[in-house]
Amino acid sequence: LAASIIQINPNLPSEAGFALSNIEHPGFLVNFISSNLNATISEKQVMLAMSNLKQRATQLLTALHKEYQLLEIKQQIHSKVKTDIDKQQREYFLHQQMKTIQEELGTGASEEVLVIKKKAESLKWPESAKKVFAKEMAKMERMNPMVAEYSVQLNYLEFVTDLPWESYSDDSFDLKKAAKILDRDHYGLEKVKQRVLEHLAVLKRRGDMKAPIICLVGPPGVGKTSLGRSVAEALGRKYSRMSLGGVRDESEIRGHRRTYIGAMAGRLLQNLKKCGTSNPVFILDEIDKLSRDVHGDPSSALLEVLDPEQNQTFHDNYLDMDYDLSKVLFIATANDLGGIPRPLLDRMEIIRVPGYATEEKINIATKHLLPKQLEAHGMKGIDLKLSKKLLTHIVDSYTRESGVRSLERKIAAIVRRKLVHEDMQSEVAFDLSEDKLPAILGSPIPREQYDGNDKAGVVTGLAYTAVGGDVLYIESSISPGRGKLTLTGNLGGVMKESALLAMEYLKAQGSSLGIKPEWLDYWNVHIHVPEGAVPKDGPSAGVTMLTALASLFTQRKVKAQLAMTGEITLRGQVLAVGGIKEKVLAARRAGIKTVLLPDANRFDFEEINASYTKGLKVIYMKTLEDVLDAALSSLKVSKPIDLSAPSRNKQNRA
Ligand SMILES: Nc1ncnc2c1ncn2[C@@H]1O[C@H](COP(=O)(O)OP(=O)(O)O)[C@@H](O)[C@H]1O
Ligand SMILES: [Mg+2]
Repeated sequence: LAASIIQINPNLPSEAGFALSNIEHPGFLVNFISSNLNATISEKQVMLAMSNLKQRATQLLTALHKEYQLLEIKQQIHSKVKTDIDKQQREYFLHQQMKTIQEELGTGASEEVLVIKKKAESLKWPESAKKVFAKEMAKMERMNPMVAEYSVQLNYLEFVTDLPWESYSDDSFDLKKAAKILDRDHYGLEKVKQRVLEHLAVLKRRGDMKAPIICLVGPPGVGKTSLGRSVAEALGRKYSRMSLGGVRDESEIRGHRRTYIGAMAGRLLQNLKKCGTSNPVFILDEIDKLSRDVHGDPSSALLEVLDPEQNQTFHDNYLDMDYDLSKVLFIATANDLGGIPRPLLDRMEIIRVPGYATEEKINIATKHLLPKQLEAHGMKGIDLKLSKKLLTHIVDSYTRESGVRSLERKIAAIVRRKLVHEDMQSEVAFDLSEDKLPAILGSPIPREQYDGNDKAGVVTGLAYTAVGGDVLYIESSISPGRGKLTLTGNLGGVMKESALLAMEYLKAQGSSLGIKPEWLDYWNVHIHVPEGAVPKDGPSAGVTMLTALASLFTQRKVKAQLAMTGEITLRGQVLAVGGIKEKVLAARRAGIKTVLLPDANRFDFEEINASYTKGLKVIYMKTLEDVLDAALSSLKVSKPIDLSAPSRNKQNRA
């Protein structure tokens, strides 16, 4: 009995167990236990009524057993409840501990989170973004600062809260002031300035506007990029610029998803974060230099950016929320329309920024470049004047461009030389005469000048290249053979086709010029366009090729000091070409007196300030007959080849 009691209650103090085992009389033991039993009075009375000790002991054992089972059930329930509660408590404890440890260590991680949280409260973001943020924040708070993801998450939340959310700078609606700022920073460029003022006027009237995307297209150094900055100032907006040259990975624009190690937001949002407002003037510089590779096509990401219908919900992979770009004023720049992917082109309003005439360059130099360079070199008060004559000489002999970029560098070189001169307090006066210039600016660039017309088949064309307008000579010669046409000079496909067209036209229509169709079969023709190392392409040399071939097969001179540009068709038409202003100015620089232009380009020519084309005669051409009428002289070259006597060829053919 004593043993079973000890078994029932293993927690029995050892003295109690000892006392029990010390009782020797069974009657006393039964009574002792019964009196201590956790039973009701009536149960105890039943036991007391039993006089037989054996019967009473059995009754006691039954009661004890019942008690034992009851205790067991209690124990089971207790342990089950305990595990449930333990789990929650454990977490609570651990969190509490972590907090204490962090506080002890002074890691301050939670402080950073607090800062972010506080910042988030002051942000005016859309509901959807708010939700995402709350979710990510909760995740953050549950994270252990020791794990690597912690800082990733922290960076993300920091980025999200640092982005400008619907924080707009006020637009300055003073059109007069805006016009003044635009004029202050840039000479000329009337069309672009006009367009900006129009934009401003609409904004003022309507209060909001789906910002149209303007694309400035023109040769390098005409002020496309720097104009963007003035526009920002005129509008009173922040300015941001993203160069797209060499961007070939979509994620550079749209960012990497956060699952990648080292993921970052795209450059677009990073720039916005840097400038701190959601309505800056944003320059997408050199959009024609975008390329693509296996990592995707960045232009498709730009499509979303540039489409006013879509850019309200721009999606960056890193941010993983929609971001509203519709209030940003995007201005794209490009050198060459051909380099812009077609779908992008469709979404932009193209504004051409033509190259400058020498007169314009001189104005820009005196009013802008020189003061700018003086200031940049810390010589604001210093008296340095560059005369019109000197600047003209520098432009003509030391630069070869449509813009003013290398002119600016040349001016910087002069300013530096002047700085040294000032510093040394030299006795000799600062001398900028023409013969002293090479010592400062290096040797002058040799100019392609018009060089006579006494060779059949040599014609001056006008080209529009990456550096702007230029004259370009087309040389051709014939030799006895079998009517083979060879083209050299790094020519592109379109240019080669122009040559074939010209050949074909002469074969069909040459009789009016006295050209016999069979001559074209007996003579080999070689057309070369120097300089051989520079790639050339485009249809605008069509009329030049035709004139060269016509001159070759008639052995007539090309009229003196004449240059031309225009695309030709098989039907004998002359089509319009681009870059008229640059080409015409280049012709004038090269000493040309007459230019032949497509009739369809009449407006482009008339748009050029008349003073820049003084002394230049223009003849418009509609058909290929017009071209040859205007270009070919009635005189033969001094040593004409007799085309009708290719006797050797006839034999060869036989
Ligand atoms: N019309 C102009 N008036 C004043 N400065 C100009 C003008 N055009 C160009 N510039 C200056 O020439 C330099 C080159 O211009 P930039 O904007 O870099 O050319 P782009 O982007 O067209 O290649 C800049 O310093 C710019 O301020
Ligand atoms: Mg630029």
